[in-house]
Amino acid sequence: MAIGLAELALAGFFAYLFYTETWGKKTALSNVAGPPRESWLKGNTQRLFRDAFEYNRWLSWTYGTAVKMHTLFGQEALYLSDPLALQHIFVKNQQAFDVNNAFIQSNLLMFGEGLTATLDKQHKKQRKMLNPVFAVSNLRELLPIIQPIANEMASVFTKHVPADGTTTELDVMPWLSRGAQEYISQACFGWTFNALDLDKRNTYSEAARRYTPAALRVSWLRPYLPFIVKIFPLSWRTKMLEWYPGEDMKNFVYILDVMYKTSKRIFGEKKKALEGGLEGKANVITSGKSEGDMGPVMQGKDIMSILLNANASSNQADRLTDSELMGQMSTLLFAGFETTTYAISRILWVLASHPEAQARIRSEVKVAKERYLSQGFSTVAAWHDASLSYDDLTALPYLDAVIRETLRVYPPSSVHFRMASQDTTLPLQYPVNSVDGKPVDAIPIKKGTQILVSIIASNHSKEVWGEDASEWKPERWLNLADNEMPKGITDSVKYPGVYCGMMTFLGGPRGCIGFKFSEMEAKQVLATLLPRLHFALPSAVDENGNRKEVYWKMSGPQIPVIRPPFGDGTTAQVPLDVRLVKEEDFAIEPDDEDLIAL
Ligand code: HEM
Repeated sequence: MAIGLAELALAGFFAYLFYTETWGKKTALSNVAGPPRESWLKGNTQRLFRDAFEYNRWLSWTYGTAVKMHTLFGQEALYLSDPLALQHIFVKNQQAFDVNNAFIQSNLLMFGEGLTATLDKQHKKQRKMLNPVFAVSNLRELLPIIQPIANEMASVFTKHVPADGTTTELDVMPWLSRGAQEYISQACFGWTFNALDLDKRNTYSEAARRYTPAALRVSWLRPYLPFIVKIFPLSWRTKMLEWYPGEDMKNFVYILDVMYKTSKRIFGEKKKALEGGLEGKANVITSGKSEGDMGPVMQGKDIMSILLNANASSNQADRLTDSELMGQMSTLLFAGFETTTYAISRILWVLASHPEAQARIRSEVKVAKERYLSQGFSTVAAWHDASLSYDDLTALPYLDAVIRETLRVYPPSSVHFRMASQDTTLPLQYPVNSVDGKPVDAIPIKKGTQILVSIIASNHSKEVWGEDASEWKPERWLNLADNEMPKGITDSVKYPGVYCGMMTFLGGPRGCIGFKFSEMEAKQVLATLLPRLHFALPSAVDENGNRKEVYWKMSGPQIPVIRPPFGDGTTAQVPLDVRLVKEEDFAIEPDDEDLIAL
C-alpha cells in the first residue's frame, strides 16, 4: 500500500510529539546487556511482536531473565522474565509499577471507564466490586448457561462432518469464535446474539469479530494517545478522526460505535429490570424485547446483573457510577472473547497432533459422565448428553493438566507493558551478566522506565519449569499435592501469576479477573466436543506434496493463520481433519476408577 503525503505528515507530527515528550528521560539501564539497537527511530522492541515466538525465547536464553531493549527514539526498556523481579512488580512493590498511560487512554477511548482504563484508587474500587462477581460460587451458577451453547456448537460441528465416519476438513476457528462470543454475551450480559446461527446476522457480533483486525490497523497511534489527549480538546480530536486518511479509522470508529450503542441498550434494560425488582430471580425474562437477532435470555444470574445488584446494595463510598458499570461491558467482551477463542483453538490444535491425549480426555469425561448418570444427577439417555456439575467438570485431572500445559507453553498473549512510577530497585532471582561482563543481581530503575513483562520467556524458563520447559507435557501437572508446582532446576521458585504459578494471566491486582471463567469455558467446550468428534491435523496434500499447516502468527495475540499458497497469512483459521468418534478413539484403561484417580 502506497503511503500518501497526508499519512506521512500525520506520522511525522506524532513522531515529533512523542520525541519532545520522551527526550531527556534517561533510564538507569546502561549496564544491562541486551541485543543491539536496530534503529534509533524504532529501536528493536517491534521484533517482540512480529512473528517472534522464537525471538522471545532466544532473548531470555541468550541474555538471561533481564534484558535491555530499545523502544522509539532511543528510549531504553527492560525486558523481564525474572521470577523475583516480577514478584516485586506484581505483588511486593506493585504501587511502584502500573500499566502505561497509552494503555489507559486507548482503553478509555475504546471501552469506556472499565477495569482496563482506570488506575490507582479507582481501579482498586472497581476490583473490590468485581472480584466477588467472578467468585467460584457465581461460576457454578453460570456453567448451566454456557452448557447449552457448547452443545449447540457440537451439533454444528457434527452437521459438518460425514455421518458415515469418514473425515472432512473443517475450519474450526469461526465456530469457536462464534461460540466464545455467545458464552460471553449470555454469561456476562444475559443476552443472546445468536452468533452460532448463520441465518441470523447480528451487527453487534459482527462488529466484535471485526474488532481485532481493525484495531491492529490503527494500533500505531496507541503510543501517541496520551499526548493527543493532553494537547487537543475533544472537538479537535473528533475532527482528527474525520481527517484521518483512508477507511481504517472510519471502520474502527463504526465498530466501537455499534459496541457502545448495544452496551448502552442492554445496560438500560438491566437497570430498568433492577428498578422493577426483577434482579436476583433466575429465569425471569425482563422487559427487554428481542429485537432482530438479539434479546435477553435470562435475567439475574449473568455477571452484569450480579454486578448491578452488588453495586446497588453496597455503601455509597464503594458504589460505581453508571459510566463505570457500563464501561465493564465492552471491557469484559474484549478482554474475554478473543483471548479465550485463541486459547481453545490452540488446545484443539495441540490435541489434534496428540491423539493419545485426546483419547485420554475422552475416556476421562466418559467415566465422569457415566458416574454422574448412575448417581441419578441427570435423566438424559446417552452419557455424552449429560452435563457435569462445575465441581465435577473442573476436577477432571487430565483435562485440567492439558489446559494448564497448553496455556503455559502457548500463552495467547506474549508481552505486557508496565511503567515505573518511582525510582526503585528490582532484585533478580537469577543474576544476569552486565555489559562489562560482571554478574548483576539487582537493577536500578528510574521513574518512567518501561518494563516489558515477557509471558513467553517466563513460561519457558528452564530454571523454573526444568530443562524440558518448552516441551508440551501435561503429565508434569499430574499427581501434585495441593499448591505443589512441577519441579524445575531451582525448587520452590515460583512466578506471581494468578493461575498455576505461570504468567499467562499475569498477577497481582491487575491480573486477569476472568481466568477461572475462561478455564471453565475451555473445559466445557472440550468435554462436549471430544466425546463426539475426533480431530487431526489437516492431511490433504497438494500436487507438490505440500500440506496445509497452521502457523501461529504473533502480532500481540498469537493468531492462527495459513500461509500462502494455501492461505492469505492473515485471516484467523484452524483447519482440522474432523470425523465422528469411533470406539477405538477412547483410551483403553484397565479400570475406570484408575482413570479418574490419575
Ligand atoms: C485464555 C483467556 C485469557 C487470557 C490469556 C487473559 C489474559 C489476561 C491478561 C494477561 C491480563 C492482564 C493485562 C494487563 O494488565 O496488561 C488480563 C486482564 C483482564 N482480563 Fe483476561 N484473559 C483471558 C480471559 C478473560 C476472560 C474470559 C475475561 C472475562 C470474562 C477476562 C477479563 C479480563 C479483564 C477485565 C482484565 C483487566 C483486569 C484489570 O485490569 O483489573 N479475561 N487478562
